[in-house]
Order: sequence, then structure tokens, then C-alpha cells
Amino acid sequence: MIREPALQTNRKARIVAAAQRGSWPLVEYNPYAYETHEDPYPVYRELRERAPLYRNESLGFWALSRHADVLAGFKDSARLSSSFGVSLDASAYHEGADSTMSFLAMDPPRHTRMRALISRGFTPRRIAELEGRIRALARHYIERFQADGNCDFIADFAGRLPMDVVCEMLGVPALDRDRLRGWADAVVHREPGVTDVPPEGLRAAAKMLQYFGELVADREKHPTDDLTGALLGAEIDGDRLDPREVLGFLFLMVVAGNETTTKLLGNAVYWLWRNPKERARLNADPTLIPQWVEETLRYDSSTQALVRRVAYEFELYGQKVCEGDRLVLLVGSGNRDDRVFDDPDRFDLGRNTSAMLSFGQGTHFCLGAALARLEARVALEEVQKSLPDFEIDIAGSRRIHSVNVRGFASLPIEFSQ
Ligand code: HEM
Repeated sequence: MIREPALQTNRKARIVAAAQRGSWPLVEYNPYAYETHEDPYPVYRELRERAPLYRNESLGFWALSRHADVLAGFKDSARLSSSFGVSLDASAYHEGADSTMSFLAMDPPRHTRMRALISRGFTPRRIAELEGRIRALARHYIERFQADGNCDFIADFAGRLPMDVVCEMLGVPALDRDRLRGWADAVVHREPGVTDVPPEGLRAAAKMLQYFGELVADREKHPTDDLTGALLGAEIDGDRLDPREVLGFLFLMVVAGNETTTKLLGNAVYWLWRNPKERARLNADPTLIPQWVEETLRYDSSTQALVRRVAYEFELYGQKVCEGDRLVLLVGSGNRDDRVFDDPDRFDLGRNTSAMLSFGQGTHFCLGAALARLEARVALEEVQKSLPDFEIDIAGSRRIHSVNVRGFASLPIEFSQ
């Protein structure tokens, strides 16, 4: 919806008046700024304390930062719609995003139907069966670099495993995986000052769609028992997924499931290394590895922010949020809210993390949460066993720059052979 200029002027006037009264301190939150990517947590704290419903007028969005508000936002799919997409990037957020056949951008009841059909193929059993294969892949990659005494933890391990697992599930041949990995990276990468998907990202997305289109067409002709085949065959009361819907889901798995899990693994080794006491605790008791995964998800989630479109007007914290506005749910901030977590800025393997928001909540709760947890646990068990004394070369590390995903593009480590 294009807002009336008068309304924009009124809102600006209200903001200035509130700031002059001292009742609405000005906090600046720019999700595209490289400083934000380095460390968003100080600004999140400011937002929670001073502007729990924050307005960024120049980028045109509201943001909720307190745990209770982010949680309520996730659960309120009637008032907060996903139908324009869930990213701030202009090319990813637009009318008709829900017609791309990605059910991440659908609202009920279309979302309910498609998620039910996909769940017929993407079953807990299919995921649990992957454990042995995930372990074998993790060992394979570690063996390739172990004798060198060093590697890039992202390029040589964390950036490989999740894509391999998704590709094995979908039946993508091993030879094609590096190509897919390159396209998926190009979709999320941003150069400084760029506030949208760059042309190479759009080209990479188009190539990925074309690749999966051909894979789905092939599986239609030659049915298989991989996930692609299972999705094409899924049926509820005679209703089936359209091949384009299967294609949309394959694309979503690579974009939603690959980067997030890669970054989770990198963030896990980084934060353990930064917290020697917790590391000693884990070395003494490796049964804490699942808790290492959960605390990393809470402490520094690879998914930081998800967007919704306001379906009808409401008031919150004394401000009016209008139909058509964009509203960002700051997952990473909710996870550090001291209203819910004691001493939230401490990385603590002993804490109760059950309230963490990193997989979302409600209708769109991450379909791959069990897979991500399994992959991370198994991968980190192998890392812990084979590279127990790893050290990070922090000067050589590099972050990715994305509005949604947080983590490392490169994380060089050294270890004894
Ligand atoms: C650390 C890893 C992961 C994180 C932090 C994560 C996070 C999330 C979040 C926050 C959502 C909700 C989005 C929203 O409410 O708009 C979501 C949805 C989703 N995730 Fe994940 N995810 C991860 C891994 C995976 C994996 C491994 C897969 C599958 C291979 C996956 C597939 C999906 C799908 C299909 C949805 C859409 C569900 C729906 O719309 O009903 N995710 N994820």
C-alpha cells in the first residue's frame, strides 16, 4: 500500500515532537549497516529499553525487539501476514510473493494445506534416518583437512555439510552440489551500502530455480524414493502438490535450510572458543553438546530478523501501526531479553534455553528444526572428538553481510594433527 504523504508527514511530526518531549529517545537501528552485522546486541538492548516498537522512517519499517512482543508477533498470523515475503530486501518483499509457491510466504488457509502435504514427505522418520549419513559426511570432511593442522571451518566443513544433507535428501547428484552452494551464497551476500538482493543474487536465484525445475520434471518422469519423489507423490484426500509447489519447496530448503545451519555451526565453534570456561565444561562432559547447539541458537541466532506485513491497523506502545506497514520481528533481540533470560549476554551451557525464538513460533515454525538440531549435534560431536584443541585465527575471519542471516563467511582454525 502506498501511504498518503500527509500521513507520513504527520508521523514524522509526531516522532520529532515525542523526541523533543524526551519521551521517545532516538535510537538508530540500521539492519544493513556493517557495524550492526559486527555486533547488533548493543543496539537491540537500546531498542528493548527505549523504543520497544521502533520506527525506521527512511527504510520504512517498524521493529519489535522484546521477547514477549516477538513471540506474540509470530503467533499472530491473522494480523501479521507473511504474504509479501519475510525479508526486508525490496526484491524479496512485494505483493504476490505468496504466489511464488514458497509456503514461507503464504498465510492460512493456503499455508495450512501446503504445509500438511509437505509434512507427508518431510517426516521425522526420514530425518532421523539421516544420522549415520550425516556422521559419515562430517568425518569425510574432517579427514580431508585433519593432517594439515588447519582449515577454513566454513569453506571446508560448515559450508559443505548442510548443503550435502539437503542435496542427499532431494536426490541432487554430488557433482552439482558446489554449483548450488555458490548460488545459495550469492543470494544472501550483500556488498556495503547495498540494501537489496544484488543482480548476481537475482541471477543465482534464477539459475537455482531452473536447476530444480529440471530436477522436478525428471522425477515426474522417473519417480524416485528421495524427498523430491515423496513430495510429488504426497496426497491428502486426493489433493496433491503441483510440481511448481514442489519446486518452490526445494528452493526454500536450500535458501532457508542451508545458510542458517552453516552459520549455526560457525557460530557454535566461535562462541565456545570465546568462552574458555564453558569450553572446559564441555570437554569434561561431552553430553553437553546438544546444549551447546541450543545455547548457540539462543545467544547468536543465524536467523536474526523476519518481516511481516500488517494486515489491519493496531495500536501498541501508544503508536498507531497502519495496514500495509512492514514490521520486523527481531529474533536475535528477543533471545537476549533479560525479562526472560537471566544474565542474557552470558554464553552459558547450563541455562534453560526453551524460550528461545530462533526457529520462530506458531504457523511458520521452522519445518527443518529437527534436521538442523540433528545436523548440528552430530557435526559438533565429530568436531569435538577430532579437533578438541582448535584455535580460531580471528584476524583471518570474515562475516557475511545480510539482513536476515548472521554468521561467518570465513573462519580459519588451527588444531593439532
Ligand atoms: C539453524 C538452522 C535454522 C534456523 C535458525 C531456521 C529458522 C527458521 C525460522 C525462524 C523460520 C520461521 C520463518 C517465519 O516465521 O517467517 C523457519 C522456517 C522454515 N525453515 Fe528453518 N531454520 C533452520 C534450518 C532449517 C533447515 C535445515 C530446513 C530444511 C532443510 C529449514 C526449513 C524451513 C522451512 C521449510 C520453513 C518454512 C516453514 C513454514 O513456512 O511453514 N530450516 N526457519
